[in-house]
Amino acid sequence: MKRVIEKEGTMSRQTGHSANDPTTAEGPSGNWQNRVTRILGSSYPILQGAMRMITLGEMAAAVSNCGGFGQIAASGLSSDKLRSELKRARELTNRPIGVNIPIYRPNAFDALEIAIEMGVTTVTTSAGNPAKMMERIREAGLRVVHKVSNESMAQKAQAAGVDAVVVTGFEAGGHIGRNDVSTLCMVPQLVDCLDIPVVAAGGIGDARGLVAAFALGAEGVEMGTRLLATRECPIPSFFKERVCSASSDETFILGRKEMPIRVLRNRLTEQIESMGEAQADAFLQDAGETSYVQEGGNRENATMPCGQSVGVVKRIETLAEVFDELIGEARKISIGLGSLFGGGEG
Ligand SMILES: Cc1cc2nc3c(=O)[nH]c(=O)nc-3n(C[C@H](O)[C@H](O)[C@H](O)COP(=O)(O)O)c2cc1C
Repeated sequence: MKRVIEKEGTMSRQTGHSANDPTTAEGPSGNWQNRVTRILGSSYPILQGAMRMITLGEMAAAVSNCGGFGQIAASGLSSDKLRSELKRARELTNRPIGVNIPIYRPNAFDALEIAIEMGVTTVTTSAGNPAKMMERIREAGLRVVHKVSNESMAQKAQAAGVDAVVVTGFEAGGHIGRNDVSTLCMVPQLVDCLDIPVVAAGGIGDARGLVAAFALGAEGVEMGTRLLATRECPIPSFFKERVCSASSDETFILGRKEMPIRVLRNRLTEQIESMGEAQADAFLQDAGETSYVQEGGNRENATMPCGQSVGVVKRIETLAEVFDELIGEARKISIGLGSLFGGGEG
């Protein structure tokens, strides 16, 4: 079991600099500009993964104020709620905020119209064919990043005209693909076959994972699990504490036949495992419609989506501390590697 540490303060341990400064939103290494930041309008090519009923206006704004790309998950939100969350985000930041739109949901086109009306400049799409939305997206002058989990989905997304793809590997928290291929193998495969930029998602819990993803050819990373253990993340404390104490082998994939989802193991997952397949799928269908942040749950009866990178998450921090660490440590790691691969001491 890992030790859970709750930290105070918002300043970086290493630099005394706070990334959470909306005026500059620059970390200790300034901005990292590349094709992905030009699509997103962020200071760093680091996306906060959309998390249903979790990443709403306040969390998305807090991420964007750190220089990342915060996004509101439209899944499960009524039109009024999505509008009010975008309005809340706008009150808290003047930096770009995204909206994630699961295409299969009946309200997908309404969510797109609201994003356009509220001045969003980049949307992310998932769970469906982006071609359906491209005409309206282009007409409104938006950029779009589509989430995929294999090469054929990525090729179709590129052919449909999306600006970039996020590829989710098997390690990721929440819904994953059905092909059990890791981020380590999927990213270079897609980098080799696409012209548009690839963003890596799944298994990236700290600066070591981030640098590894860029070494594979990714031009951005998307993080979900690590950001659960932040003060700004509106999940119950029992969930955050489990994220800080669990090791990488304590996650489990539910609903393998229907919509596989990686969650933390608990009594609930044991019960679902012991159900017949049809009953388990029906249960998960219902669970998928509820919120992960409901009052009254506990660590044994709640559905807690979470990825294998949980093993490197050890304490609850502020988002500013997470970003300062990611950016500062990535720089140190890359300098060390540059020295080693350049023929010097690593
Ligand atoms: C609690 C939780 C909820 C999630 N909900 C969604 C969601 O609603 N839509 C979505 O596209 N991805 C969802 N994801 C996936 C994240 O957006 C992100 O791609 C993923 O967490 C990245 O992998 P990592 O967890 O290893 O960092 C969720 C992930 C977690 C941990």
